[in-house]
Amino acid sequence: MPDVSSAPLGAAEPDRVSVLLDRLTLDEKISLVHGGDAEGDHLGEAGYVPGVPRLGIPSLRLADGPVGPRLTIPATAMPAPIALAATFAPEFAEAFGGVIGHEARALGQDVLLTPMVNQIRTPYGGRNFETFSEDPFLTAEMAAAQIRGVQDQGTIATVKHLAVNNQEHRRTSVDARVDEQTLREMELPPFEAAVQAGAGTVMAAYNSVNGAFSCENTDLLTTLLRDEWGFTGWVMSDWGATHSTGASLLAGLDMEMPTGEYFGARLKKAVLDGDVSEAHLNRAVRRILTVLDRFGLLDGSAPPRPVRDSAAGARTAQEIAIAGAVLLRNDKDVLPLTGDATRSLAVIGLTGAVPFVSGGGSSHVLPDRATAPVDAIRQRAGDDASVTYSLGADHFGGPVPVSALNPAVSLDRTGPDALTRDDSWRYDGTLTVEQDDEWTFVVHWSQRDLFGPVTRPRIVLDGTDLFPELPEMEEWFAGGLTGETVDGLRARAVTVPVAAGAHSLSVEARGGTDGLSFRLRLLTSATRAAHRTEAVRAAQAADTAVVFAWQDTTEGQDLATLSLPAAQNELIKAVAAANPRTVVVLNSSTCVTMPWLEDVAAVLQMWYPGQQGAEATSALLFGDEAPGGKLPLTFPADEDGHPVAGDPESYPGVDDKVTYKEGIHVGYRWYDAHGVEPLFPFGHGLSYTEFAYEGLRTTPAGHGFDVSFTVRNTGSRRGTEVAQVYVGPSPRLDLPQAVRSLAACQRLTLEPGEAQDVVLHLSPRQLSSWSADAHRWVLGGGERDVAVGSSSRDLRLRGTVLVTQEE
Ligand code: BGC
Repeated sequence: MPDVSSAPLGAAEPDRVSVLLDRLTLDEKISLVHGGDAEGDHLGEAGYVPGVPRLGIPSLRLADGPVGPRLTIPATAMPAPIALAATFAPEFAEAFGGVIGHEARALGQDVLLTPMVNQIRTPYGGRNFETFSEDPFLTAEMAAAQIRGVQDQGTIATVKHLAVNNQEHRRTSVDARVDEQTLREMELPPFEAAVQAGAGTVMAAYNSVNGAFSCENTDLLTTLLRDEWGFTGWVMSDWGATHSTGASLLAGLDMEMPTGEYFGARLKKAVLDGDVSEAHLNRAVRRILTVLDRFGLLDGSAPPRPVRDSAAGARTAQEIAIAGAVLLRNDKDVLPLTGDATRSLAVIGLTGAVPFVSGGGSSHVLPDRATAPVDAIRQRAGDDASVTYSLGADHFGGPVPVSALNPAVSLDRTGPDALTRDDSWRYDGTLTVEQDDEWTFVVHWSQRDLFGPVTRPRIVLDGTDLFPELPEMEEWFAGGLTGETVDGLRARAVTVPVAAGAHSLSVEARGGTDGLSFRLRLLTSATRAAHRTEAVRAAQAADTAVVFAWQDTTEGQDLATLSLPAAQNELIKAVAAANPRTVVVLNSSTCVTMPWLEDVAAVLQMWYPGQQGAEATSALLFGDEAPGGKLPLTFPADEDGHPVAGDPESYPGVDDKVTYKEGIHVGYRWYDAHGVEPLFPFGHGLSYTEFAYEGLRTTPAGHGFDVSFTVRNTGSRRGTEVAQVYVGPSPRLDLPQAVRSLAACQRLTLEPGEAQDVVLHLSPRQLSSWSADAHRWVLGGGERDVAVGSSSRDLRLRGTVLVTQEE
């Protein structure tokens, strides 16, 4: 098999590619630079490029994405990339890449649309779970390792979305205004690392960067990517992100996805009319063929497609779900559960019974399997234990009481009552509300083609359409948990105030070509209170209460709030008041506010943990495994205290422009620069044991420094720590600099009493800033602080290095 990961980029052009280029007709070349309709077995992959069989050029199948191949058939659903980043360990990223790369090839795919490496800039980002972190060093390390893992399996990796796709709000039209230093220091390093790691393809983003669409941005696609970084692979557009023909091709876009709106007939005409030179088309084709050749896809040297190994996938998924779990709080060592706590548990919360596997959007994978956390807990606790389950706070709703409807009718048209093809169904009546209230209506409906016409019934209350059609992106991309019911229907909820009295209600549904199952569901103050009361009773009766809490996010839209949805804050407060041994297990994409933090004993952040989430969570709760993850993003104390709070120009933007006013002070750099106390700082994560740090030494080594120290497990349990090295600003540079930046880290697992010497290298890049005047990296000379610790705010050792190699 060709050595795909270490093949030097920029190596001499393989002859094979030149020969093919000479033989390809104009039409054939055009067919290679844009997506088309899949032939043969279509497995729901995101993109397809037909090959040129007469010349042995294979067709290409391109599948999302960041947690495994997203197809219509199952795959291993890995934990979300943010959970992977929380391991702070590139070896896990490489293993993760190995699983998804192997599965992609086994499932007939050639290109995997991963990793997403855009920096987490706003806590509200709808895709924060799909990317890695708020720190460019950490993201770069994880991305490069994952790409190596994917490509070692013979699958081509795609680093996305170049560049500055840091928010979903108006992502297709927003212009990110970002200064050169910030762009270079904060957003671009992971892309550069991905290119160095040999990524075969780059995906250009939807948004504009400083006034030019990413897909026709010469500065990004040519000056930076090709001329400076030496990228020799191909650049594809994000799905529907191309806006022009000649301008895009010339700027450096090589492939339009998923169709040929601009790079199909229009490109052919432009070439024939002489408006675009064929040399530019040849350049794009050459880049594509060069990657195919490198992966052995042109001469048959690629190894045969392997057979899926779902057991191995599940093992790695579970290992990483465990490794990325972050113990945020553990008052009085309530975790791990021991003694009575293992025999008497009240499991509470929707995601205690419905496993939260993946976030929504293009990275949502159909999992091989997923266990309900309460079942995994019951199994671990054994037959003698009492493990109760209560919903506590619902999202999907209960039936609308037939008695509240006049004429009385069941609004559940599923199973035998489902509409068949071409059926239509209509209800006109009244819905009686007993007292003024706030009701959540939830519609569940079947829709075979997510990207096709909406088949949801029209439900009109007092003349208002409760579920109007949304802009395309929002209609397509529903949440990972809330977007689908356990029986596989789509779901959408809306909360409205209702006054006591009779309200007109009409429901109109059509069977269409596929038939339609649907039901209308409801949550009222009374049902919410009943769920809460049941949970409180269960918590009172148990030794320990474990509340599963969730926050759902998806591509295509940002979060409106960091507050937990669906009355979960009220639930947690009520349960914590009933039982001081309350543990919150959090499944969230990004940070959440925790108005109940002081009331609960422990918080275990599991992110979106993939298909093995239940087993991983149970192993951690019972102490079979030790939590060792760290936060790859800061949790703010409230919604007013974070880097993009309170200024719409900074976020979410005004008139489709978002200005990166915080400059290089993204994430923890902002909290440090402004002296703001977060809820939990970057790098935070507790253990079931304690670690001591000793003996810091810094010594010049190579072009940088070695930082050495010893970490000792001073507790009585085996545990995992991530030792973090932060470097301070240079007194000699007159440029914005962070109070401290992560420059190196090491994950270690130590037995009780065991000590390990750690030596980490600070490279010149970690000691440099980008000068926008000189347009290059400048080494920051002088005496610079070095701090080593357990988080960005728990620094245990301090020293300095004297940087003298000034350029
Ligand atoms: C997303 C990409 C994804 C593509 C294909 C787009 O909407 O932004 O990340 O790879 O769809 O599904």
